Amino acid sequence: MKAIVTGGCGFIASHVTDRLVNLGHEVTVIDNMSTGFRENICHHLESKSIKLLEFDLGNLKKTEKALKGADAVFHLAANADVRHGLEDSFRDIDRNLIVTYNILEAMRKSDVKKILFSSTAATYGEPDVFPTPETYHPRQTSFYGASKIACEGLIEAFSEAYGMQAWMYRFVSIQGERHPHGVTYDFVKKLKANPKQLEILGDGTARKSYLHVEDCVDGFFLGFGKATGRTNLFNLGHEEYVNVKKMADIVTSEMGLKEVKYNFTGGERGWVGDSPLVHLDTGRMRALGWKPKISIEETVRRTVRWLLANPYVYKR
Ligand SMILES: NC(=O)c1ccc[n+]([C@@H]2O[C@H](COP(=O)([O-])OP(=O)(O)OC[C@H]3O[C@@H](n4cnc5c(N)ncnc54)[C@H](O)[C@@H]3O)[C@@H](O)[C@H]2O)c1
Repeated sequence: MKAIVTGGCGFIASHVTDRLVNLGHEVTVIDNMSTGFRENICHHLESKSIKLLEFDLGNLKKTEKALKGADAVFHLAANADVRHGLEDSFRDIDRNLIVTYNILEAMRKSDVKKILFSSTAATYGEPDVFPTPETYHPRQTSFYGASKIACEGLIEAFSEAYGMQAWMYRFVSIQGERHPHGVTYDFVKKLKANPKQLEILGDGTARKSYLHVEDCVDGFFLGFGKATGRTNLFNLGHEEYVNVKKMADIVTSEMGLKEVKYNFTGGERGWVGDSPLVHLDTGRMRALGWKPKISIEETVRRTVRWLLANPYVYKR
């Protein structure tokens, strides 16, 4: 298979790239390096096992040219930052929705029929059903979630209109090696600067499910291999969840720190658009034979160890 990976220098997509190369596929990575790191895929660049195209997917002409002759697009490029969405209400439309439109339009013109898409648990907003199934009808609470659910809609419309096939995955928060943003990243950064105190957004009670990136990529590929619908939508998450204070306890313990003073900023939510509980029903994915292999605690501990050993992710 000739596979295109958008955002392949980023966290999750670099693991997707690893998997595709290991399976023997021909891989082209497209990345504008806005949040990606060459270090994440340098092992492939040295061995020339992938091609890297550096440009912004906002450019339709370049996207069309790059997709010619491809069999499938693994579309993970996005603005993955939920928290700062309020600062610019157009950013998620531009970086997520318009970029996804460009991918779909380029696929249509180049006759590429398969797309895998990284959506998010944020599309559920603040649901009142837990664990939340794919069939839940959500109300949006963030520009990021709204842009991603709009992307899903566009993918469905293109699939229907032009005979494409799509696999879309709503992830919980993903952690593990190369983790570049999110709670564990923030905690380690703050604790490296000051090991005696930790500012925690919210009151520490928000409960979240997390998934190790290897479990996430396993699900991504299993769904692609097994689900045969025109559009296939899956939740990917853990049956476990933990609260934010517990996350802080795991991080401080893995860093070998004692008696760290926690300063809570207060409120059930860490920021506007944050959700006090994220817990997804993964029955659809499990019916295909998938389940997470790594506990949340082990995932967080591995993430901390990796962050401490790889400071390059704090360069930006
Ligand atoms: N990390 C998570 O917890 C999480 C959870 C749910 C969904 N997701 C989704 O998974 C995907 C990957 O997230 P991540 O955490 O690995 O993010 P990331 O920021 O590490 O990776 C995104 C990559 O896309 C590239 N990129 C962004 N916009 C681009 C553009 N216009 N043109 C070319 N390249 C561009 C960036 O440079 C980066 O390499 C995203 O779609 C994100 O929304 C992530």
